[in-house]
Amino acid sequence: MLILAIESSCDDTAAAVLDNDRVLSNVISSQFAVHAKYGGVVPELASRCHIEAIWPVVNEALTAAGVSLDEIGLIAATQGPGLVGCLLVGFTFAKSLALVRQIPCVGVDHLTGHLLAILLEQEKPAFPYTALVVSGGTSSLFAVSSPIEFRLLGRTRDDAAGEAFDKVAKMLDLGCPGGPAVSTLAEQGRADAFAFPRALADGSVDFSFSGLKTAVANQVSRFLQQELPVPKADICASFEQAVVDALTEKTITAAKRCGHQRVVLGGGVAANNTLRRQICTRCAEERLQCFLPSPVFCTDNAAMIGLAGYHQFVAGNTIGSDADAFSRSPLN
Ligand code: KG4
Repeated sequence: MLILAIESSCDDTAAAVLDNDRVLSNVISSQFAVHAKYGGVVPELASRCHIEAIWPVVNEALTAAGVSLDEIGLIAATQGPGLVGCLLVGFTFAKSLALVRQIPCVGVDHLTGHLLAILLEQEKPAFPYTALVVSGGTSSLFAVSSPIEFRLLGRTRDDAAGEAFDKVAKMLDLGCPGGPAVSTLAEQGRADAFAFPRALADGSVDFSFSGLKTAVANQVSRFLQQELPVPKADICASFEQAVVDALTEKTITAAKRCGHQRVVLGGGVAANNTLRRQICTRCAEERLQCFLPSPVFCTDNAAMIGLAGYHQFVAGNTIGSDADAFSRSPLN
């Protein structure tokens, strides 16, 4: 069965075509240039950009897959969580197309896309596994026991890790998106230059990044007050190491508590090289298998939505044209 998948939860308009769980095309149109001058995503502008991009992006995905709309047997679209104005563009487009074409439609929880993205790779983990989803809006650990069974193990009590990366980039004038900018500069810095805090190091598998963010802000303002140059690379490296330590150790703890043999990453921050290296090393030490999606399947994409949608369809979870988008995930 050929699946058309659509993702528009934040600032990327994305479409993909899958043959069941095999990706035939995966197109992403970034709004980066539109939001860059504002230092972050402007929801109203993002919705308008989705409206302009949705048809061209869907057409490009169909063309790249060598498939016509007549051949599509299922439409899968992100239903939530995300910016509602943005979600409504892709989700309403998908429902309308399904209605007109008389084909089934599934609404996909964006988090399940990140939790299953690893199954788009050649080397797939068996179930069950412990998954860390770490992005701009989410930092959560889940037990995944099948493509439709997810249990929350822990989550951030305040900011998401990606949000902390973005805020630190803003404090240091590194531009947006902040994660890759901080990570690149961190490569030139010393990770032990500043002793930033690792919160909730008490055996809990919840996260907290707001204290870390404040510690970085305080450190930056001390340099500014003394009219000294801010050692940006050292701050980035020390901050990144504090985030990576927390994410890695809590993921290992969660996997061991669940008795899982496998650890999986997902979400934009999973593209971070320091995190990827450290979690692989720690998993090897703990005799756990570690599975990392390629960076294009870490950040927002429609291929993962198509895959999660395919499994929802197999489970019989189609939606009607009255289904609504949601801003918060019921899983989290
Ligand atoms: O999954 P994603 O594309 O969108 C959301 O659903 O949030 O994740 C975006 C987040 C942003 O906060 C971005 O700064 C962060 O992922 N990110 C990174 C890296 N690449 C993206 N953070 C750290 N290191 C990276 N290499």
